[in-house]
Amino acid sequence: MAEGQNEAIRPGHLWLEGKTLVHLREDQQRPTHMPRGPAKRTGPGFLNPAMAPARTRSLMLLADALEHHWLVKPGHDLRALDALCATGVRVRRWRNELPEAVQPRLRIAANDLDEFALNWLKRSHEDFPPRISVDHALEDDRYERPPQGEMKNGIFMMQNDARIAFMEAAYQWIDLDPFGSPVNFLDAAIQGLARVGFLEVTATDTAALTGSSASSQQRRYGAKGIVDTYAHDDAVRVLLGLVATTAARHDRVIEPVLALFDGHHVRVSVKVVRSKERASKVMERMGWRIREPEGRYHFVQHPTPEEVERGSGPLWVGPLWNNDIAGRMTEERALELCSPTEQELAEAAQLGLEWDQDDQEYAQREIRRSVRHIASAADLMSRDHLLLHIDDVPNMAGVPHAPKMEALFSAIQETGYCAARIPDIDPFFVTDAPMETVLDCMRSLVQPG
Ligand SMILES: C[S@@+](CC[C@H](N)C(=O)[O-])C[C@H]1O[C@@H](n2cnc3c(N)ncnc32)[C@H](O)[C@@H]1O
Repeated sequence: MAEGQNEAIRPGHLWLEGKTLVHLREDQQRPTHMPRGPAKRTGPGFLNPAMAPARTRSLMLLADALEHHWLVKPGHDLRALDALCATGVRVRRWRNELPEAVQPRLRIAANDLDEFALNWLKRSHEDFPPRISVDHALEDDRYERPPQGEMKNGIFMMQNDARIAFMEAAYQWIDLDPFGSPVNFLDAAIQGLARVGFLEVTATDTAALTGSSASSQQRRYGAKGIVDTYAHDDAVRVLLGLVATTAARHDRVIEPVLALFDGHHVRVSVKVVRSKERASKVMERMGWRIREPEGRYHFVQHPTPEEVERGSGPLWVGPLWNNDIAGRMTEERALELCSPTEQELAEAAQLGLEWDQDDQEYAQREIRRSVRHIASAADLMSRDHLLLHIDDVPNMAGVPHAPKMEALFSAIQETGYCAARIPDIDPFFVTDAPMETVLDCMRSLVQPG
């Protein structure tokens, strides 16, 4: 890295994301505690605070993989790469906030093409080193030619095109978080994974994924959309469909663990397993969402030309989450991992952090919000379900307004079915009850007008 760069990044101020101190550029305003949407400014060194919840979920999933052994066997190391790490807040949070007991098994690599961003990471990681020191050796025996980079406080930092970085080791965990669409990187990312791996993909090109930009959707995702109530769910399924079919081309099959539309981006987290046999059946999990009158829909595998007219697809029609893993993503667990203790706050204050009681309360609220509704919806999101926007249902049921969501869930549960709210800005819920049962429940709660 260039001499003198570190001097250039000295000015600025401190912010706390999770338990990790983040040095913000002087010209980046102090973030609000409930940021939404894309960052107001971008460019090297700018932190997008709206992505904090995605980073929180990422570290919760990584902790879960190491503690519950669903990716590598007990005692084995896990190689994780953030391929487009920018200033490295994600990798620093992995190193700072994952439980001490699993840290020695975690080998972290961070890569970005941008030198300024990498210098920022290096400097922040030096100034605010992780609480425990983990300096794993590079696995020299894995490489004919060891990758170029620098090991600092348990993070190996590289400056490569991401497509080269993927090939440096058989990573078990790859994070792919580009600006815009991930399509250019997907093939290489999947090829870079170990036989059993985990891939997290962010896409901010939501206009293309939802179909509000029809030509981009056709070009990038080979899909057609309808921008209605189901556009967010479709966007998630279109991205999963692309990841699944790309994986299949490389003899691999995906098992979704978590997949969310989070305001201005879509993020899917999938286990990727090498299996020619299962990869050959990928098209069984692909299909179309066909709209029916009165806001209803169903999935089909092979739509007729008439159904294509009122359909969106092709998209993933398989399960969206893993029940066990997503079921453990509770608000309590998020706070346990990511909320600083009094002592940690006092140490941060000594390093210059200005953080009062209100900041701490807002930050805790934000950590909770990162996983709100996930654990309670995990079961239904992992199997076939009906997705509904609460405000669409009164019309279908012929009643003037919706009841409280909790009241509707209780009524549905009394009939022996399940119902749960899902994490979306809008009030969506999922249920395994037939539509007629949902409508009857609504009629039992709200008198016709
Ligand atoms: C959205 S940012 C990543 C944010 C980061 N993952 C986080 O959580 O803070 C995208 C990054 O990709 C980097 N980038 C763009 N094209 C690249 C390429 N071909 N190879 C490696 N990095 C690239 C940019 O320099 C930028 O830092």
